[in-house]
This record gives sequence, structure tokens and C-alpha cells, in this order.
Amino acid sequence: MTSELHIPRRSPGARTDWSRLASRTRLHAEDLPASELEKLEPILREDVLSEYDARFLSAYLHGKGLPFTSRFRLAEERWREDEERHYHHTAEVYRELYGLDPELLADRRARFEPLEELFDDELSILVLLAYDELATVGAYQANLEAYGRLGPAYREWVRALVADEAWHYAMFLAVLRDAHGDRLDQAEESLERVIAYEGTPYGATFVLDHDDPVFTPGLLERTARLLRRHLRDGSGGGEGIFEGL
Ligand SMILES: [Fe+2]
Ligand SMILES: [Fe+2]
Repeated sequence: MTSELHIPRRSPGARTDWSRLASRTRLHAEDLPASELEKLEPILREDVLSEYDARFLSAYLHGKGLPFTSRFRLAEERWREDEERHYHHTAEVYRELYGLDPELLADRRARFEPLEELFDDELSILVLLAYDELATVGAYQANLEAYGRLGPAYREWVRALVADEAWHYAMFLAVLRDAHGDRLDQAEESLERVIAYEGTPYGATFVLDHDDPVFTPGLLERTARLLRRHLRDGSGGGEGIFEGL
């Protein structure tokens, strides 16, 4: 075990005040044709729901009774706060533009049973979380042009989301190395197992929410390749990202 890992309190997106995001986005959207707004609706709805589901994953992890390290618990707490903030502002924008149907979330229940094998221990969970965050970075980036139609404020918000999800990736990678550095070969095996579960119908589990066509086989392959490389050669900002912040 190495020395205590330092994870700063605030991720990139938490350093900006987003209180005017929804009103600024609405102002811009007023000039958009209705058909354009309609096309963007499913993308935004999916984002709201995805970010919302973090609470189910967090509750599931807490309920598992696994002996998590203090590093893991800290990273999970930071991650959970960020995802809640992502949900809060994305939902605010959605409400401004489309009126959030409360029914949309009311009956949402998570089904973790089909993925249970991926939550064996802390190491497997970290691999799953790292892989998932990195895939999300790719998905938000792939849709940047679409988000940009909602104006500069929303574009800036999505860039902050990308930075936060990349931050989560680096944070989970850092805990993986810091607390489980002697088992990184097993991390690669865990990754192969995660990949084998791609295609499992999504059950509000936050992870593997990859039914959307933006998650192309190419994007998922690139995600796995990058994580594999970072596990093998120690790169990927897992440690360095926290320094000097
Ligand atoms: Fe998020
Ligand atoms: Fe994230």
C-alpha cells in the first residue's frame, strides 16, 4: 500500500457557477426551429436519466457490504456528488426546454441482477467504473456538435461534463493503481469480463448504459484499448491528474 492518495474536493465542472445555464440555454433555443428541438429531445432525456441513475448505483454499492478501502469510499463519494450535480443541471435545462414529466423518473427501478458478476470485489468494480466513465467521455464528445445547437452555454456545460467524466476515469484509475497495484493483471481479466457484458439490456444501473447508437462498437473498442494501455504502461493521468490542484 502506498501513501494516502490525495483527491481534491472539486472536479473541473464544480469550479463554475451553472445557475444561469438553463435560462441561457432557453434563450438560445427560442430561436431554434421546433424540429431541431425535437431532434435533440431524446439525447437530452437519455442524459437526464443516465445521470439520475448514479443514485441507484451508489445505493447498490453501499448495500453490498463489501470491505471497500478508504480510497474507494472517498472516490465514490466525490463521484456521486458530481453525478448528482450533472443530473441537477441537465434536468433543469430539460425542464426549461421540454417541461420535465415527473412520470419520467417516478417509476424508475434499477435491475442489478444481470450484472452482479461484475461487482465481485473492489478491483472489479473500479475496472467497471473506469471503463464506463471513459466510454461516457467518448459519447459526450461524439455528440458535441448536436449539443452545440443549444448554444454556447450548453456547449460549455457539455465540455465541463466531458472534463468531469474524464476526471472520474482518472480518479478510479488512480485508486486502482494505488490500492490494487499488485493485481493489475487481474484488472485486465475484469475488463474482458465487462466487455463481454456489453449488449445487456440497460436496467437503470448507470453503468453499461450503452443502448444509444452513439456507443458504436468502434467507440467501445477504443475505450477498452485505452484503459488496457493505461493499465499496462501506468499512463493515463491516474496519479498526475491530482497533483498541484
Ligand atoms: Fe455524469
Ligand atoms: Fe462520471
